[in-house]
Amino acid sequence: MSVRTRVWDPGVNPLRDPRDRRLPRVAGPCSLVLFGVTGDLARKKLMPAVYDLANRGLLPPGFALVGFARRDWADQDFAEIVHDSVREHARTEFREDVWNELCQGIRFVAGDFADDAAFDQLGQVVRDLDRVRGTRGNHAFYLSIPPKFFAPVVQQLKRSGLSASDDGAWRRVVIEKPFGHDLASARELNSTLAEVFPHGSVFRIDHYLGKETVQNLLALRFANTMFEPIWNAHFVDHVQITMAEDIGIGGRAGYYDGIGAARDVIQNHLLQLLALAAMEEPLTFDARDVRVEKEKVLAALTLPEDLDLHTARGQYAAGWQGGELVKGFLEEDGIAAGSSTETFAAIRLGVDTRRWAGVPFYLRTGKRLGRRVTELAVVFKRAPHLPFSVTDTEELGQNALVLRVQPDEGVTLRFGSKVPGTQMEVRDVNMDFAYGDSFTESSPEAYERLILDVLLGDPPLFPRHEEVELAWTVLDPVLEHWAAGGRPEQYESGTWGPAGAEAMMARDGRAWRRP
Ligand code: BG6
Repeated sequence: MSVRTRVWDPGVNPLRDPRDRRLPRVAGPCSLVLFGVTGDLARKKLMPAVYDLANRGLLPPGFALVGFARRDWADQDFAEIVHDSVREHARTEFREDVWNELCQGIRFVAGDFADDAAFDQLGQVVRDLDRVRGTRGNHAFYLSIPPKFFAPVVQQLKRSGLSASDDGAWRRVVIEKPFGHDLASARELNSTLAEVFPHGSVFRIDHYLGKETVQNLLALRFANTMFEPIWNAHFVDHVQITMAEDIGIGGRAGYYDGIGAARDVIQNHLLQLLALAAMEEPLTFDARDVRVEKEKVLAALTLPEDLDLHTARGQYAAGWQGGELVKGFLEEDGIAAGSSTETFAAIRLGVDTRRWAGVPFYLRTGKRLGRRVTELAVVFKRAPHLPFSVTDTEELGQNALVLRVQPDEGVTLRFGSKVPGTQMEVRDVNMDFAYGDSFTESSPEAYERLILDVLLGDPPLFPRHEEVELAWTVLDPVLEHWAAGGRPEQYESGTWGPAGAEAMMARDGRAWRRP
């Protein structure tokens, strides 16, 4: 008989004890200090998510939201900005009583990141909140700012005494990707953070991990019996992970040019999805156990020898999208003339473990593609023998299990079925699970879940530095190879990417799915 002892991680919220699972996970007294409040992310996602949490009763009564920016605003001006962003982007309905309560805790500090006095002022505001709102010294600093400012801001937090507290209260820092632009710079960033914040107080956001459907991958695999026995090289032919967007780069030229699709999406979202799909069952869902399993997968990733044959990159050209004629990447405002930044990237990876030996994982992402869709498709091998005539199974493809991450959240199982009639003709059909049909609750936004987890100090959904490094270790050779020569192929907006991506699959006798 074996006995598994449960080791408690002191950093883990006790509400995650299985005995307490049904209790709502409500944050304790605290504030959220937001840097970058004038940015798109803050306006469209972060401030609305804070309101949605308040509306769901998941924030403490004295919760405070502090904005910091180079604007000549008073608290009231910032409150109006938050109000407008909530009215426009919140998921849940607007309720005056919730808003009024939240508004009581809104503060603003004006200053730039080099301004010592502004950070001293922030320190004063935070101490006042402890007194007036009862935030008890617990403060999270969310850096929704360009990475070049991470170091100066964390240094300022240290200098002004905001990064640590000696009275048992917590201080946490939240950073948004990109976590560096290659392995060396990711290491540098990590040591900058580590000088100021201890390991467990750094929360790296990969918002895909906050998505319900991504977490459902763990439920699908580990709460059921029927998938896991076939989740391996004996049955799986290959795995395809697609994140396709119909939008272009919008107003983000400054961020995107020089970064490109592989750094923007594959390094983080897609490699995290791959890790969740390929990992072994974790001992528990505590952060340490889940991260250990993900890291094993990332460490086992292998690149093909010939990167020209098994990777593809592209750049969107003008074309028709949603009935509108859209510009090509090189014509977008703010893009350097002749830029070779890719807006489409595809790579083939192997996972060097017994479970996955010989099974390719194909990852692709791109902007201005046919439609917005993210999915993970596990495509199974063909039956070893088909006791039908060849013509009966002409329309039979490969079985597939597709996790539909967005927008049409659910799971599809594709298999062959007899076409009604007198002949034994077999054709592919789909069996669908749709969130909307099975659950009455709508899914929270990823940022609601992640901000709440920061305030609770609950880390499983945040990649740790080791994962970030491993992901760069995989991607760096591809990026170096691309940088060494050639240019991304052009593809017409509204299509499914460059011809090279189709050719890369065709070489392996496979084809991309058309989701
Ligand atoms: C971000 C990328 O991480 O994810 C963007 O930087 C991309 O380029 C976005 O548009 C897509 O997020 P979602 O949740 O809409 O799939």
